[in-house]
Amino acid sequence: MPVTHTLEADVLRRQDPELAEILLGELDRQSTTLQLIAAENFTSPAVLSALGSPLANKYAEGYPGARHHGGCEIVDVAERLAVDRAKALFGAEHANVQSHSGSSAVLAAYAALLRPGDTVLALGLPYGGHLTHGSPANFSGRWFDFVGYGVDAETGLIDYDQVRTLARTHRPKAIVCGSIAYPRHIDYALFREVADEVGAYLIADAAHPIGLVAGGAAPSPVPYADVVCATTHKVLRGPRGGMILCGAELAERVDRAVFPFTQGGAQMNTIAAKAVAFGEAATPAFTSYAHQVVANARVLAAGLAAEGLVVTTGGTDTHLITADPAPLGVDGRTARGRLAAAGMVLDCCALPHGDARGLRLGTAAVTTQGMGEEEMAGIAALLAGVLRGETESQKARDQVRELTGRFQPYTG
Ligand SMILES: Cc1ncc(COP(=O)(O)O)c(C=O)c1O
Repeated sequence: MPVTHTLEADVLRRQDPELAEILLGELDRQSTTLQLIAAENFTSPAVLSALGSPLANKYAEGYPGARHHGGCEIVDVAERLAVDRAKALFGAEHANVQSHSGSSAVLAAYAALLRPGDTVLALGLPYGGHLTHGSPANFSGRWFDFVGYGVDAETGLIDYDQVRTLARTHRPKAIVCGSIAYPRHIDYALFREVADEVGAYLIADAAHPIGLVAGGAAPSPVPYADVVCATTHKVLRGPRGGMILCGAELAERVDRAVFPFTQGGAQMNTIAAKAVAFGEAATPAFTSYAHQVVANARVLAAGLAAEGLVVTTGGTDTHLITADPAPLGVDGRTARGRLAAAGMVLDCCALPHGDARGLRLGTAAVTTQGMGEEEMAGIAALLAGVLRGETESQKARDQVRELTGRFQPYTG
């Protein structure tokens, strides 16, 4: 395990014991509590090795073969490998792997296709849109004129009729599909049809489902969207970072939008780690993993529903579940705090109806640890017991410790 391996080697501990303790403390937290945050995962030791490699030292502004710095001949090979693997994995004509994060990828997509003041149609933030989909606190809401579509208050499903009506009324320059909390597959073909009807670009922000797409467990936006933005660190299980996929005709605009328009030097250690993750994601083992992530989420969602939580959309197609704990007598924020005390780490999220906060959970990390349907059923029961006040916090914490003890994220 690279983290302890480094510490075992004692380099960091000897030089900076204070920081070494922090790293070990975080490793212990990750290993002894349940990571149910839908956006998190455990990268492989190989990905961590690439991240902590001397490639972190290299400055490499520009693109392979056209850098503003000398000495890039080796990192050029790493970036070409990452690009080739991403293109092959997703069947895309072009891939840019330099975005520092998912938000940077979205910023670059807008920079490639839009001008300040353009109208953009995206899922409204109260329904699960990301900050980059028009929040007034974000560059997107400040620089573009966002119109928000929603989800049906009853079903929680995207209101595709509203998407079409708003597109016809506002004639946006781009339509964004993608969410931080939508548990169902998105109908990319329908979004394409609406975009074509009004002459808009279609941007898929597939930060969440892209790992499932890689593993063949979710439909791909690549054949439909002009530009696909993604993160590499969620189900995809790579390093924290972003990625953009597009057709050959937009390749140059997208590349220029990343560097030099919105970013400086690429982080070559992260790009190498992305290459490692893309290599892993192309294996049959990852295909099994992606399908297990969904199977686990379905069991977890069904278990939560059976315990009385209101599961949005009645279930999930993905790794992600959102649920209202109100029938158990707690609101989302109180529930998150109580569960954290019991060692179950998850997020709050908006709910399709009203102002109440719900819970957002995901199965990417626990599935990487090797947990299956049986463990998911147990987690649903434990979670509900804690929320109802039937299972005392310390007792639940002990059960979580026992469970995580049997499914360590890093071993050996
Ligand atoms: C849909 C969507 N877009 C963009 C992002 C931003 O990614 P990052 O936090 O890497 O900037 C996220 C992250 O959760 C996301 O879910």
